[in-house]
Amino acid sequence: MKQNEIKITFQPSGRSIYVLPGTTLLEAAARAGFILQTPCGGKGTCGKCKVRVTSGHCAEPVPNSVLSNDQIRQGFRLACQAKAEEPLVIEIPAASLFEHEHQILIKSGKYEVKLSPYLRKIYFTLEEPSMQNPQADLARLRQALGDIRVSYKMLRHIPQFLRNNQWKGTAVLADRQLIALEKGDTCGSLYGVAFDIGTTTMVGTLIDLACGTEAAVSAGMNPQVTYGDDVLSRVQHVREQPGSLSELQAVLIDAINKLIERMAAEKGISLSSIYDISVAGNTAMQQIFCGLNPHALGEIPFTPVFDQAFRIPAESLGIKANPASDTFVFGQVGGFVGGDTVAGMLASRIDQWGKPVLLVDIGTNGEIVLFNQGRMWAASTAAGPAFEGARISHGMRATAGAIEKVIMGEEVQINIIGNVKPIGICGTGLIDAVAEMLRTGVLDVTGRMLPLDELAATVPAALRKRLIVRDQQTDFILVHAIESGVDGPIMITQKDIRELQLAAGAVRAGINILLKRAGIAADELDAVLLAGAFGNFIRRNNARRIGLLPQIPCDKIRFIGNAASLGAKMALLSSREREYSERLRGKTEHVDLSLDPEFQMEFSAAMLFPEHEPVV
Ligand code: FES
Repeated sequence: MKQNEIKITFQPSGRSIYVLPGTTLLEAAARAGFILQTPCGGKGTCGKCKVRVTSGHCAEPVPNSVLSNDQIRQGFRLACQAKAEEPLVIEIPAASLFEHEHQILIKSGKYEVKLSPYLRKIYFTLEEPSMQNPQADLARLRQALGDIRVSYKMLRHIPQFLRNNQWKGTAVLADRQLIALEKGDTCGSLYGVAFDIGTTTMVGTLIDLACGTEAAVSAGMNPQVTYGDDVLSRVQHVREQPGSLSELQAVLIDAINKLIERMAAEKGISLSSIYDISVAGNTAMQQIFCGLNPHALGEIPFTPVFDQAFRIPAESLGIKANPASDTFVFGQVGGFVGGDTVAGMLASRIDQWGKPVLLVDIGTNGEIVLFNQGRMWAASTAAGPAFEGARISHGMRATAGAIEKVIMGEEVQINIIGNVKPIGICGTGLIDAVAEMLRTGVLDVTGRMLPLDELAATVPAALRKRLIVRDQQTDFILVHAIESGVDGPIMITQKDIRELQLAAGAVRAGINILLKRAGIAADELDAVLLAGAFGNFIRRNNARRIGLLPQIPCDKIRFIGNAASLGAKMALLSSREREYSERLRGKTEHVDLSLDPEFQMEFSAAMLFPEHEPVV
C-alpha cells in the first residue's frame, strides 16, 4: 500500500483493495472483482449500481429521483457517482451485481431465459411385476418417465438396478435420453460446470442445476501458454510437431479437471453428481479441447473443423465428471471467431438492442461483433498478449504487485493490486500510463517518447526527470528502484509503447472494418459493450485516448462482465439458450480481417494515437 492509498472493504465477501483517493466506488468494486450493473452507462440516472456505505464517510449526494432521503441516510450511494476519500466498508446488494440480474431473470422466468436445463432428474417408484401385471421392465419405466430413449448399454443395466433397489430410484435424463439411474431420491443433487477457455486464462463455474444458482467459481491459467502465448503460435506448434495435438489437449483437460475438483471440493459434492459441461472458447481453443486438429486454422482461408454446436461424451475427453455426462461445445462463426464470441452474443442479447451496438471482448484474441438493423458481423483480431502484460518489459498479469492504475500530473501516482510493493505493470496500468503520457506531452501521436530537448515547456519537471536515454531511445521510469519490489526501477520503454500500439491498432482496425461493412460511423453507435475480465477494468476515457475504442461519449461504453462465461452458464441452465445461441451463430457473418483489402491501411492508421482528447 502506498502512503496515500485507502482501504475499501466489500461486504458480504469481506474482500479488500487499496485505491487512490477520488476513485469511484464503481471502479473500486470492479477492481475487487465485482461487476455492478450500469444500464445508464454511469450517468447516475438508473440507480442500478446502488451500494451501501456501512463504515466511513462518503459524501452525501443531493437527494434526487434515484435515491430518496431515507436511502441516503441509510448510507446508500450510487457507485458510479460516489468517490472514496477515506477508508470505507461497502455493502453490495445482490441486485446491484451484473450477473445477479441474469440469475434472477432466469429463475423468475420474466425474461426469455427460463430455468430448463438439458439435464433433469426424476424420482420414480414402480410397481413390482406380478402375474396380473407382467409388463416389461422398460415399459414399466416408460409409464413413469414418459417416452424416454434408452441405449443398449442402459437397457442391460435396467433389470438389475430395478430389482436391487426395490423398484425405486432416480432417473437422470438428457433431454429424453435416459443416461443414468441412481439409488434413492437424488433429485436435489444435479450439477453442471460452465467453462470459458481463453487463450491465456480459463474460468469454470459450478452450477446447481436443481435451483439454477452458482455453487462455486474457479479460475486458472491456460497451461498451453508454454506452447506459445497466442493462438497462432499454438496452431503452428500443432502443425510442426506431430503428436503435439494430444499433448496440448491433455494439458488443457488436466487443468480443467483440477478446476472441477477444486470447485467440487469447495461445495462438498462428489464428481459423479456433475452431469453436464458447457465450453466456450475461440475456434483454436475449442478444437484443441475436442482433440480436433486446428491445422487448417494456420493457413488461408483459416477453416475451422465444425460450425454447429455439438455434444461429446465427457468420458471420451477424460473429463472428471459422471461417466454418463456430455460436454456441450458452442458453435463457431468462422476463422478464429468461435464459441466464446457466440456465448458473448447470447449473454449480451446483442440482437435485441434495436440500435447499432458493438460488442468488444478484449483478450489475447480480441473479438468484435457489430449489430445493425437486424444484421450481425463478427471478426477476430490478433491483439496479442500485450493486454495480459506479455511482451512488455515489466509487464505482468493483473495479480498482486501489478500497477493497475496510473495518473500523471505534477507527479506520478500509481495504484497497485494487493498490499505489496509494485513488481510490474498490467494491461490497464499500461493503457493508463500511455494515455497520461499523451496528455502530458511526454509521448507524441506517432508513439515516440520525446527526448528532453523536444519536450514542450508545459511538461512538469517531475516527469522530465523520469525520462532517460538508453540505446539512443527514450524510456520512462514509472517507479524508481528504491520504491519498487524488483531489483531496479519499473520502466515503460519505447518498445512497450510499440507493443501497445500494435495491440490497440489491431482491435481498432477491426472495429473500423466492421463499421464500414455495416455502412455506419462510430458516432452512430448506441453503445459499445465491453466484455471479458480485462475489458471490465479498463478506464474508458483512457481506452479512447489511446484509440483502442471509438471516440464516443464514455456513457455509451458499458461494462458487461465476462460475457463468454455468462453465455456458457446460460447454456447449462436452459436448452432453449443453446438453441438460441445456434440461431445467433447462423445469422452472423464472419469478416476475415486478414483477407480484407482495407485491413492493412486501417491497421497502419489505427497505430497512430488520436490527435486530440475526445470531447466527453
Ligand atoms: S446510476 Fe446508472 S450506473 Fe450508476
